[in-house]
Formats: sequence, structure tokens, C-alpha cells
Amino acid sequence: MTRHHRHFLIHLLVLAVLVLAAPAVRAQLYQNPVNPPTTKEQVPLYQPQEKLVGTVSIPDEKLSVLVQPEGREWREFRSYWLRVVAGTLALGMLALLTLFYLFRGTIPISKGRSGRWVPRFGGFDRFAHWTTAVSFLILAITGLIITFGRPLLIPLIGHEAFTSTAYASTFLHNFFAIPFTLGLILIFVAWVRDNLPEKADLVWLRTLGGVLNKAGEHPEAGRFNAGQKLIFWAVVFGGFALAVSGVLLMLPFSVTGIGGMQILHVLHGLIASLMIAVIIAHIYIGTIGMEGAFDAMGRGVVDENWAKEHHSRWYEEQVLAMRANDGRPMHHRAAE
Ligand code: HEM
Repeated sequence: MTRHHRHFLIHLLVLAVLVLAAPAVRAQLYQNPVNPPTTKEQVPLYQPQEKLVGTVSIPDEKLSVLVQPEGREWREFRSYWLRVVAGTLALGMLALLTLFYLFRGTIPISKGRSGRWVPRFGGFDRFAHWTTAVSFLILAITGLIITFGRPLLIPLIGHEAFTSTAYASTFLHNFFAIPFTLGLILIFVAWVRDNLPEKADLVWLRTLGGVLNKAGEHPEAGRFNAGQKLIFWAVVFGGFALAVSGVLLMLPFSVTGIGGMQILHVLHGLIASLMIAVIIAHIYIGTIGMEGAFDAMGRGVVDENWAKEHHSRWYEEQVLAMRANDGRPMHHRAAE
């Protein structure tokens, strides 16, 4: 064997060792990318608890930050606490509603349907509602995919399919922020007047809207009862907070630094988790939870007996308005 051959073989051997060892090294690094493994004898070389900033000669100052310890807390929130909070709230609400349904069933119109219809939501209201609702549902589903994809979807559909699912989800999540914000502005304009607090709301809240009253007695209410007003304000405040924090996250470093973005992301995740739970309850009551409710947003009209039971003051105002209008149905103010 010539010297040349010997050199060649040694190189080949070193290469083989490197190739074989690489996955093990990578696996080790991947498991613990921040703190290298330590034993009793092995003191960690480097575990900074403080921010570590160097100097850079380029204009991009933020690149001088070498270590930002809050980033670890943020990562723990992103990969653990956010999942715990969002999962507990959504599943907890589903469990509560299932129990409620088993215990109380669909809340009926106590006098049965009258067969006469009272106009409740015109085209403008329904357009505003469904624009907001459909966008929110897409935002919620894609947000949940982004949040839970790694632990839940990768084991189910594999890495490759998850890559395209996650990519599509992020795109849809960014895109549907636009109709969602538009819908929010529309429902705010259409319904804010009827959602201002009033005295009757206190009675409604004290009796929980008569929900536990088997005789079907309801406290009086105007166009929206106190429960709906709470949903309205949760949607308005929660929705705008999500829109603002979301836009700032879409434009990284435009307004805040990395610390501000971490806080915005935590707020975005927590508010979204709360809103998803609230909206699950809203969808329940608007569909199988209450007889006659869906008609209001589906066809824009409600049964007269439903109107008398759930919104007695609003019903009387509607009847008076219809009489003043020669018996023709009066659409609510927003559609005039
Ligand atoms: C499949 C989904 C949904 C259904 C079936 C549904 C159904 C309904 C119904 C029937 C009403 C009218 C209740 C009445 O006549 O008094 C309503 C009102 C309303 N909806 Fe929805 N909705 C859905 C999703 C959403 C979403 C995602 C949002 C917001 C993010 C939303 C926000 C509102 C608000 C603010 C009101 C007025 C206040 C209230 O009645 O609670 N809805 N919805």
C-alpha cells in the first residue's frame, strides 16, 4: 500500500466515523439545545441568566443581542402553557355544555311556536355577523393547528403533510384577519346602541336569564339581553385586541423589540383561548341550545312567541313600530 493509499483510507475512516456519529450528536443537541448536558463533575460552561449584548458595526442594533433569557420563558409558554390553557378552556367549555345539555336539553319556546314571524336581523346585520363568524372560525381552526400541530398532527399525518398544512394555516390565519376586522367594525356600528348597559341587565344577570326556571319565566329584555351584551363586548374588546396584537406580530420589529413581541404573542394566545371558549358557548346557545334562536341569524326573523319570551320589551317596541308603519314590518334601526 502506498503512502497515498494509506492517506486516502485514513480520510475515508474519519469520514465514516463523522457520518455515523452525526445523528447521535444531532439528537443530543436537539433534545437539549439550550443547556448542554451536565454531570456532577461537569460544570456547565455557560448558563447566563442575564441579557447578553455585544456590539455590531451594522445598523441593525437588535442583532447585537446574543442571549435574551426571557426567550426561554416565552418558549415554555409557547410550547407548554399556551397548549394547557387553550386546551383546558375549550375542552372544559365543551364538557360543561355537554353536561348542561344532558341536564336541561334544548330550551324550548314554552308556549310553542306561534307560526307568526317578527323581523329581527336585516341583511346588513346578517352580513356583518356571518363575515365576523366565518372569519373567526377559520382563524380559530388555523390558530389551533398552529398551536397544537406539533404534538397532535405530526403523529397523525406525518411531517410532510404537516408542513403543507402548517404553511396553509399560517397563510389563511394572516389573510382572514382582514374580513374578521372588517366584520368587527360592522357589528360594532350595527349593534353598539342596543348593547349599552341598563338597569334590566342586573335583574337578568341575577336570575341568569331565567335559564334554571323550569316554568319558562324570563326576565324582561330589550333587543339584546345581558348575556348577549356580555358576548357582544367580549367579541368587540377581545376581537380588537386580537386584531391589533396580530397585526403587530405580522410586522415584526415595526413597533416593539423582541421582548414586546413576546408579550404581544402571549396576550394574543391567551385572549384567543378565552374567546374560543366564549364562542363555543355562543354557538351552542344559537343552535341546539335554544329552540327558535337560529332563525334570527339564519333567516332574519323569529317566532313571535320566542320574541315575547326572550326579548319582551324589544317585541313590544317592534309591534308599536309596525303599527306606526301601517302594519308593514319595521326592520331594526341599523337596516333603515
Ligand atoms: C356557527 C357559528 C355561529 C352561530 C350559529 C351563531 C348564531 C347566532 C345567533 C342565532 C345570534 C342571534 C341571537 C339573537 O337573535 O338574539 C347571534 C348573535 C351574535 N353573534 Fe353569533 N353565531 C355564530 C358565530 C359567531 C361568532 C364566531 C361570533 C364572533 C366572533 C359571533 C358573534 C355574535 C354576536 C356579537 C352576536 C350578538 C350578541 C348575541 O346575540 O350574543 N357569532 N349569533
